[in-house]
Amino acid sequence: GAPYPVFTRQEVGRHRSLAERVWVTYGHEVFDITDFVELHPGGKSKILLAAGGALEPFWAMYAVHSQEHVLQLLRAYKVGEL
Ligand code: HEM
Repeated sequence: GAPYPVFTRQEVGRHRSLAERVWVTYGHEVFDITDFVELHPGGKSKILLAAGGALEPFWAMYAVHSQEHVLQLLRAYKVGEL
């Protein structure tokens, strides 16, 4: 597949606000979701809870994300791998 840059979890953790850009991880993939924050159907404050870290703990609580169309949307924001 296409080579993506590799980041550490520490580097991802530096992207926790719109000003620093908002990054999250899902599995071993890294996403810059800054441009999606305002579009999130569940609201800006909720999506920002995951900023700089893993989506899994939050998506485990909100099963609405367990749908192919949500994963497809996320894929569009991929910027790297762990
Ligand atoms: C709904 C995407 C992170 C909470 C949704 C929906 C999408 C989405 C597409 C609508 C799904 C549907 O109705 O079919 C995302 C993406 C995220 C993310 C791409 C991260 C990159 C989060 C986080 C939380 C959260 C971290 C909670 C802490 C919710 C809630 C809804 C929702 C509560 C339901 C809103 C409603 O229908 O009233 N999300 N989400 N989301 N999301 Fe997220």
